[in-house]
Amino acid sequence: MHAALARDVIARCRSLAACSDEPGFTTRTFLSPAMRAAHAELSAWMKTAGMSVSVDAAGNIRGVLTGAMPGARVLVVGSHLDTVPHAGAFDGPLGVVIGVALVEQLQGRTLPFDVEVIGFSEEEGVRFGLPFIGSRALVGELDAALLETRDAAGTSISQAIRDFGLDPSKVKDAPHSRTPLGYLEFHIEQGPVLDTAGTPLAVVDRINGRTAADVTFVGVAGHAGTTPMNARRDAVAAAAVWLRDVEELARRTDGLVATTGQIVVTPGATNVIAERCRISLDVRHGEDEARSTAVEALESRAREIARRRQLSLEWLTRLDQPGTAMDARLVSMLQRAVERSGAPAVTMASGAGHDAMILAPHMPAAMLFLRTPGGVSHHADEHVLEDDVALALAVGGHVLDEIAATLRG
Ligand code: GLV
Ligand code: MN
Ligand code: MN
Repeated sequence: MHAALARDVIARCRSLAACSDEPGFTTRTFLSPAMRAAHAELSAWMKTAGMSVSVDAAGNIRGVLTGAMPGARVLVVGSHLDTVPHAGAFDGPLGVVIGVALVEQLQGRTLPFDVEVIGFSEEEGVRFGLPFIGSRALVGELDAALLETRDAAGTSISQAIRDFGLDPSKVKDAPHSRTPLGYLEFHIEQGPVLDTAGTPLAVVDRINGRTAADVTFVGVAGHAGTTPMNARRDAVAAAAVWLRDVEELARRTDGLVATTGQIVVTPGATNVIAERCRISLDVRHGEDEARSTAVEALESRAREIARRRQLSLEWLTRLDQPGTAMDARLVSMLQRAVERSGAPAVTMASGAGHDAMILAPHMPAAMLFLRTPGGVSHHADEHVLEDDVALALAVGGHVLDEIAATLRG
């Protein structure tokens, strides 16, 4: 049964990948028309699996399978439905679709708890530069100030929610009234560790922290043909020096990764010296202190470069997310389930951020990684092996069984 369901899981992820804001690619941002199309597909699968389906005010799609007893507690299984630009089919949707498959796998068997599958509306931070919009709402952390965050077109999160036909004043109703039994997230590893080791699955025991900042060098615009080189205050030239320093610091610091994935130059013309150069900075490390030290060093280096060149520097920290431990009991339960499935029970830290890190301070949370062939992710070629999905479904089934046995006493 696992093999056939695993094939369906992969086919469904590929079908969701066709719901895109950009024809020919998979790009699905917060509450875009493509997200509505993804909801329609998921909703049909959830309903066929016997779940009642709703969309909360933050745009999270939520399917609930009611357990044997009224008023029972809920186990949440989920991940996100938004994607990076030009994404693959599995980062996020896999965890949602596996959640639905775990319900199908029960074949009508009732559990002494409810199972809620959540497709979070936003995790990647693409549209608003603010990640985890969906999971923040679920734990009551999408407050009025954050709802006013604006995208590049000036639309606020509140307005995007209204445009989708939802009511932002109801975001406060998204959290559960009673603490869930736990949160399980199935996700591709998105790196090469498991593939290199020839290991299909890993239990995640910790998610690394992350700092995200907008770093803007501000100089003076001028004529490209007439301004002598020694009279320029060129924002791009200053940024270029700093960009090299970012890479060098990360290369020589064990465990540090730093990325400058987006650069916006204004006014942005070939014959105008750049006045502003805004760079996105993303820094991660397994140890929060090492991450903070690196970020402080990068900020002081940027200020020094700006000062020497008579520019100014704007530094806006968008995210300072501490590393997060997963719940020890759920981690052990997943390890036992992996062993029962016949795979080695490996644990590892996650280098990528996940909704689980937002939920973890509010409920027991843990994750299962599936090997990512070639470590390729945030890329259209991202994929997952059918046999690994089948194993993950077996693991999920064992976890549901163990929770049921514990509750029945
Ligand atoms: C999420 O995809 C992240 O950037 O870690
Ligand atoms: Mn991602
Ligand atoms: Mn993800």
